[in-house]
Amino acid sequence: AKPPVHIAISGAAGQICYALLFRIACGDLLGPDQPVRLQLLDLEQALPAVWGVVMELEDCAFPLLEGVDVTADPHVAFADIDAAFLVGSRPRSKGMERRDLLAANAAIFRTQGQALDRAAKREARVLVVGNPANTNAWVLAEHAPGFARDNITSMIRLDHNRAASQLATQANVNVGEIERLAVWGNHSPTMYADWTNAVVGGEPLPRLIGDPDWCTDTLIPQVAQRGTAIIEARGASSAASAANAALDHMRDWLLGSDGRWVSMGLSSTGEYDIPEGLMCGVPAICSPGSVERVSGLRLDDFQHMMIQRSVAELVQERDAVSLLLKEQSVSSADR
Ligand code: NAI
Repeated sequence: AKPPVHIAISGAAGQICYALLFRIACGDLLGPDQPVRLQLLDLEQALPAVWGVVMELEDCAFPLLEGVDVTADPHVAFADIDAAFLVGSRPRSKGMERRDLLAANAAIFRTQGQALDRAAKREARVLVVGNPANTNAWVLAEHAPGFARDNITSMIRLDHNRAASQLATQANVNVGEIERLAVWGNHSPTMYADWTNAVVGGEPLPRLIGDPDWCTDTLIPQVAQRGTAIIEARGASSAASAANAALDHMRDWLLGSDGRWVSMGLSSTGEYDIPEGLMCGVPAICSPGSVERVSGLRLDDFQHMMIQRSVAELVQERDAVSLLLKEQSVSSADR
């Protein structure tokens, strides 16, 4: 039998993980011949709930699940892992300032970056889902200098999948036929769902849809507001679809995307006027274990403006966090 792939997952007691863990354990990530071992991380006070989820995992009798570890210590969770889904983060509580939210998450992802650097396999592939996902991934990468920059990514795939689904309905085609769709920027309402290059069977999608304004008037706002629509309808934020997107992101990354474009939060190379090192959603093509950015696209003024709008928000977030991290290290040196 193959040795198991070791996968760390944080936020294990949360609602996204309540969908994600079961799908990984049943083989949806790595296929029906690859055993997995799950290394679950959550806060100390959430561990009893994690143990409840572990009981349910046991009760599924998944043949591919070789074992589950539960811990509140990131060093233990990240020991010798091949991949990580970092889903846990600090949510905004009532009356909490944005600055406090950023500071809390900066501290979490600094600690986790250091633990990753120390404990994980160098070639581990890491996906940050917990919000603000792009900036959290940036903080993580800054504190895991032993990691190749491209081995730390953030999730914009939910927005990509949402856009693909809306496009398929509008064009009356199967969603699996859509290629060369891109979602740029931050996982926030400023993200830019870009259909410019999208095709179905070689036919440009904008032409198939036939309404040049549909992207701006309908697609972009609908994708941007989808998360809010789900919260209003369900009384809780997207969970199964977020877990599905995390799985899609990691599966395409580890196994390859078969020449298809996917959207991923990647550390920028400076192309398209996205500042170098910024963690930002861009189109990419994956071959097993590696990502190739879609480069050399000619952007028109509208595309450029839309990307820069989201990039500006990301830069602001990164600069604010960078300052907060400096303050945090100064005050811990004072102590
Ligand atoms: P949730 O609140 O149900 O669960 C979060 C879990 O993380 C809790 O069990 C909590 O105890 C844990 N946690 C908090 N701090 C932690 C830490 N320092 N280490 C380990 N675990 C920690 O939240 P849910 O719905 O599962 O969402 C998780 C995150 O994913 C949220 O930040 C949410 O905003 C984000 N998200 C991101 C999406 C994206 O497209 N990038 C899409 C949907 C959600």
